[in-house]
Amino acid sequence: MRRPLANARKRMPLRAAAGAALLVGLGLASAWTFAQRTDGAAGAPAPAQPPAAATPTPAADPLVERGRYLARVADCVSCHTAPGGAPFAGGLPMKTPFGTIVSTNITPDKDAGIGAYTQADFARALRQGVAADGHHLYPAMPYPSFARASDEDVQALYAYFQKAVKPVATRPPATDLPFPFSMRGLMVFWNWLYLDDTRYTPQPQQSAEWNRGAYLVQGFGHCGDCHTPRSRLGGVKAGSERDGDQFLAGALVDGWYAQPLRHTDRPSAVQWSTQDIVEYLQAGRTAHTAAFGPMVQVVENSTQHMTAEDLKAIAVYLQSVGAPASGAATGPGTPSALRAAAADTPEARKLRDGQVDGLPGSMVYLNNCSACHRSSGAGWDNTFPALAGNSVVNARDPSSLIRLVLGGSAMPSTERSPAAIAMPAFGWRLSDAEVAEVLSFARRSWGNRADAVTAAQVADVRRQLPAPAPTAAR
Ligand code: HEC
Ligand code: HEC
Ligand code: HEC
Repeated sequence: MRRPLANARKRMPLRAAAGAALLVGLGLASAWTFAQRTDGAAGAPAPAQPPAAATPTPAADPLVERGRYLARVADCVSCHTAPGGAPFAGGLPMKTPFGTIVSTNITPDKDAGIGAYTQADFARALRQGVAADGHHLYPAMPYPSFARASDEDVQALYAYFQKAVKPVATRPPATDLPFPFSMRGLMVFWNWLYLDDTRYTPQPQQSAEWNRGAYLVQGFGHCGDCHTPRSRLGGVKAGSERDGDQFLAGALVDGWYAQPLRHTDRPSAVQWSTQDIVEYLQAGRTAHTAAFGPMVQVVENSTQHMTAEDLKAIAVYLQSVGAPASGAATGPGTPSALRAAAADTPEARKLRDGQVDGLPGSMVYLNNCSACHRSSGAGWDNTFPALAGNSVVNARDPSSLIRLVLGGSAMPSTERSPAAIAMPAFGWRLSDAEVAEVLSFARRSWGNRADAVTAAQVADVRRQLPAPAPTAAR
């Protein structure tokens, strides 16, 4: 049985026409992209949020505990907590091209929060994007994903928020978008275009584990909110693996590129072993890579708290998305194979011998990068990511790479791996041309095969970054 999105597809010409009308009607030229969690600290690692469990819990009520867990999976705390504020009390400003949307207080306070919500109100807010008083929510709240959630899970979440979250009486500033976006009623059209308000239906031909993974990724995990590209009106282009190859195909979030979580023609995270994907979501680092940008907060506040079984289910599901029918890998090779072969590549040998002639960018690499990432580009396990075979280095969109080199980054600090090992910022000492050269070198060496980065691309990213902190210059 197919989800109604198939029907939705049939309505597509109609929908496209309505979409176009909406665009023209609003005089809307830019994309409604939902910049996530923009708290001004662009580039800097997000501080760990207060634990979601900062609450009085007498005897554990299984329903409440299940809700607590689901709140972690859905990462409600990251969006509904202001920097330094009480958990779930709202007030985090989220930038969109239409203005700033401020998250609301979802603690059980009767006036400032959702204490007066009935379970039905709560379910409607979560899955249809309508608040208790009937006003429409902006889709900066991921209700189009949460619509997949089962009745039992919504009930558990409700129990948790009502019984175990501490009420906070403060009211965050109201969202005040300029006209016409202030007309929340417009969301009726948006929902008509993009909201598929149906629960997840298990696919009988797939295993229980696969279905659990699909449910978590498409639903509460809302992975596609960052990893799936959006249309001009800000709807994700695909909500499940059955909606085509745009699902989890990679997208820009706050100037960071959220990598594809599916098979593509490039080295991809889904080609890691299942255990490596689990480890990445638990510890924020593996032999291949380490989390950075918005994924740091996802790992710290959400995935590290998930059970190993759920993480494995997620990995198994992701590894099936877009898998080549023949089982044969496409593109230059898998991350593991490329990394294993890296030390024997011509570039590695030349760098070891200090020969940089004819290798543009290699001198910049030797002087600035090889101490950590090594001449072989193989890095050190769980400390300095391998650049050989790395899905980030080989990504179609080099935004993350440029941003990392210019602004630096720190890994998540997790229970498993508390040390937030950092990559220093080079923006203060390397020119646009040097950054372009060294990244182009990395994208073509050790078996990597990706397009060169241009100085103009680097200049673009540099303009968007905050001025470097003086401490960056060591
Ligand atoms: C990606 C960010 C994000 C995540 C994750 C998120 N929310 Fe929200 N939520 C928002 C924003 C922003 C609003 C306010 C939208 C508006 O004013 O139109 C909101 C509004 C709400 C509302 C409406 C409250 C009211 O009366 O105004 C409820 C209820 C809610 N969220 C519950 C949740 C729960 C429960 C979770 C976790 C299961 C969650 N949210 C996860 C961003 C998020
Ligand atoms: C707030 C936005 C956001 C959400 C939500 C999100 N991610 Fe990410 N994710 C990113 C960004 C940005 C990156 C790129 C940074 C990196 O590779 O560390 C990334 C990277 C990853 C990577 C590493 C990919 C690679 O090629 O190295 C994996 C695996 C991943 N995410 C899994 C998930 C899963 C599973 C979910 C849902 C449970 C999820 N992400 C939800 C933003 C997000
Ligand atoms: C002091 C050690 C150090 C140096 C020097 C260094 N890096 Fe890094 N690099 C790191 C660490 C640690 C990370 C992981 C950061 C994170 O996940 O937040 C990283 C991450 C990266 C990544 C992303 C890989 C991934 O999958 O996470 C790239 C690309 C990269 N570095 C390139 C470079 C380049 C190019 C240079 C030289 C201009 C350089 N690095 C210099 C330590 C270093």
